[in-house]
Amino acid sequence: MNIVNAKNEFPILSQKINGKDLVYLDNSATSQKPQVVIDSIVDYYTNYNSNVHRGIHTLAEKATEKYEEVRQKVADFINAKSVNEIIFTKGTTESLNFLASSLGKNFQKDDEIILTEMEHHSNIVPWQFIAKEKGLIIKYIEVKPDGTLDIENLESLINKKTKIISLIHVSNVLGTINPVEKIIKRAKLINPDIIAIVDIAQSVPHMKVNVQKIKADFVVFSAHKMLGPTGVGVLWGKYDLLEKLHPFLGGGSMIASVTKEKTLFAEIPQRFEAGTPNIAGVIGFGTAIDYINKIGIDEINSHEQHLTKYAMEQIKQLDFIEIYGPNERAGIISFNIKGVHSHDVSAVLDNNGIAVRSGHHCTDILHNKLNINSTVRASFYLYNNENDVEQLVLGLKKVNKIFK
Ligand code: ALA
Repeated sequence: MNIVNAKNEFPILSQKINGKDLVYLDNSATSQKPQVVIDSIVDYYTNYNSNVHRGIHTLAEKATEKYEEVRQKVADFINAKSVNEIIFTKGTTESLNFLASSLGKNFQKDDEIILTEMEHHSNIVPWQFIAKEKGLIIKYIEVKPDGTLDIENLESLINKKTKIISLIHVSNVLGTINPVEKIIKRAKLINPDIIAIVDIAQSVPHMKVNVQKIKADFVVFSAHKMLGPTGVGVLWGKYDLLEKLHPFLGGGSMIASVTKEKTLFAEIPQRFEAGTPNIAGVIGFGTAIDYINKIGIDEINSHEQHLTKYAMEQIKQLDFIEIYGPNERAGIISFNIKGVHSHDVSAVLDNNGIAVRSGHHCTDILHNKLNINSTVRASFYLYNNENDVEQLVLGLKKVNKIFK
């Protein structure tokens, strides 16, 4: 499969928006889907729609087999030790809520949680819930003016009461690639019992993530940011830690037996997948992983690195623009046109067929820290090309002309 022609395989990308060829640069919000992913979902509903892990008829067995195949694909993709360490959820947000609620059950008053100032709200709000309930203390690793984490004094944040360090791998705003392996190593040197959680939603679609190498205890991510459907996420955890987790949701399919008095849980991973899952979504996710594997994640990464450099060089030359974040970054560029609200920039770009996100990108704390209300964000994926970057730069010049 050739990355140069990938765009043709995404039907949505061939349309015109406001009379202009669509330039889709909102990939950090969600990615587009190749025809093969759409086809695999249609195939499931057309030919073998059935519930999983229940019936023993032909359709049910086929659906279960296909669903479970994807678990193995996910395990291989992130280098999990065992397929049983992969839990399907609704998305990154649900995975994080699950962890905060289940891990939090064992915490005592004044126990501590470490987050960073660049976390997405999904990695802040669930911890605030449990902190309020249990009287826990949340501490934040600060973000430096250059958009990297201030980890020089990491040791001063961590002590014997620290239970969790939970941080984002790639910032969904700044594109900063955090040195998660180094941070986790240092945190565990001070307190080996700390549980390390890494939000890889913005990294795993774009670069190789090896969960064993980064020494995480849990990682969380979403299918829809990596060519798959919405409504499917992953929680990966080391098996011995999963064994200690209380289920987040109770119901059918997660039990071994139920009496009037009590429930015995099913084995992991079923224990954590109560109710009918998003079967079509998981199957589509499997096809998305196959598609990424066919191109190769390293190939995708170098393509996006090239586009990001190309875009940064050109945007930096526009003196009416302020870019946020470090030079070394993933394929995410957030910026402002001086004196123009990000929503106005986005609206004019949209008139020119260019889709970017504007606003605070679910990162109020980060925006407050940078002393800005909102930003415009362009984010790349494998199907973007140099022409997309050139259209963006032309569009920005038009915006500036209108508001100057
Ligand atoms: N987390 C997604 C974003 O950054 C929705 O846009």
